[in-house]
Amino acid sequence: MSNSFQFRCIGCGALHQSASADFRCPSCADLLEIVSPDWSKPSAGAGTKASELKTLWQQRRLSSKPEDQSGVWRFRELLPELDAGHSSVTLREGNTPLYGLHLSANATGVSALFAKHQGMNPTGSFKDVGMTVAASFARQSGARWVACASTGNTSASMAAYAARGGLRSLVLVPEGKISWSKLSQALDYGAFTCQLRTDFDGCLQLLQELVRLATVYQLNSINPFRLEGQKTMAFELMEQLDWQPPDHIIVPGGNLGNSSAIGKGLIEMQELGLIKRVPKLSVIQAEGANALVRTMRETSGTSLVSVQAETRATAIRIGNPASWKKAVKVILQTSGTCEQVSEIEIAQAKAEIGQEGIGCEPASAVTLAGLKKLLQQGFVKRGESVVLVLTGHALKDPDYVMDFHRGDLFKPLPEVLAPMRREPVVLDADVSAVMRALEHAEKQGSATL
Ligand code: F0G
Repeated sequence: MSNSFQFRCIGCGALHQSASADFRCPSCADLLEIVSPDWSKPSAGAGTKASELKTLWQQRRLSSKPEDQSGVWRFRELLPELDAGHSSVTLREGNTPLYGLHLSANATGVSALFAKHQGMNPTGSFKDVGMTVAASFARQSGARWVACASTGNTSASMAAYAARGGLRSLVLVPEGKISWSKLSQALDYGAFTCQLRTDFDGCLQLLQELVRLATVYQLNSINPFRLEGQKTMAFELMEQLDWQPPDHIIVPGGNLGNSSAIGKGLIEMQELGLIKRVPKLSVIQAEGANALVRTMRETSGTSLVSVQAETRATAIRIGNPASWKKAVKVILQTSGTCEQVSEIEIAQAKAEIGQEGIGCEPASAVTLAGLKKLLQQGFVKRGESVVLVLTGHALKDPDYVMDFHRGDLFKPLPEVLAPMRREPVVLDADVSAVMRALEHAEKQGSATL
């Protein structure tokens, strides 16, 4: 199978051999996607080819070569190919675990409930699986500077991959609106970091202007190489499920690159005969950052309804999502849906995932909160199998967790959250004081003090 590729405009369908700095169609200014013309030939999708690919990808797990150890480049037959003499920039991303969520499965009645934990990537979020591909193509292009606007995770990931690839990185983040963990990662990996007095949407808009004026290579998910890497999460997930697709995949939505990428991966797998049917892909947003939900409800996905975004799940505090058209397309193609969840529902779901010993950042927890709503609506049925995509690591936003447990996240504390609060207690360094506290905790029937 050949993996030569072209850029195709998602608006007018025009094909291009190369892309300009803004990664937009020169004719209609819409976003580009990467397509591989050879795949549409019938022979590429034949059953034997699919089974050969499955075996090849499995065998690579035994290899010690960096590109085989990467959970992204392991699937390189379905990725754009670097020119001869160019190697990938990799931190051995991907290879993330698929956990059973037993407590939540019992609580919701879903028979098979899993979490695909993309927070277990090298910089703690799903961004790494896209960044390895986009940073590799940035380096191949001869770029000296790469740049992104970010709610935090993209910047952490970009800074790491730029450093590994010998590139300089420029980070644009909204001042005061990203977690310290993420900001500190960007600094640690050596990024030149600008905290702009605006929100994420303002940062992204400024970056669009900057790439036309300065020679910086943009690494936001407008860059279609990012989405090529991110689609491999779907390949890895299906491999982990022995190529038996679940009924549903549920993913958080912010700028909407990730849902688009996962959907693209699912559809390509079906076209190539790797899976027989496509799971329903549903996107969940915070109520305060619900541009896609409003777009689907108010315009049936035909024109974007932007919002002024506000949520404590800062990773998805986005009101003007760049990839909304791609996300609408994959929701329709996979017969999925989109839904919104409240701040209280997010906090509850996050605490519940934490209680399974897994943990995630607030933006990831919208998936479990969304699942509960989709069950109530009957869109997800109890006997069906569901995979939640957890996009970021629990340590990405410790302030949120501390605010929750100290009782500062919501005032007054909603009744539904009270049993999940675990305030730390301060005691004298005295064994009997600790014994008394332990007895008290035991009496309460949990570790709550
Ligand atoms: N979850 C987390 C943890 C994120 O960091 C993001 C996006 C999303 C979900 C939403 O993904 O944008 O592809 O729909 N974070 C970006 C950033 C915007 O700058 O780190 P999306």
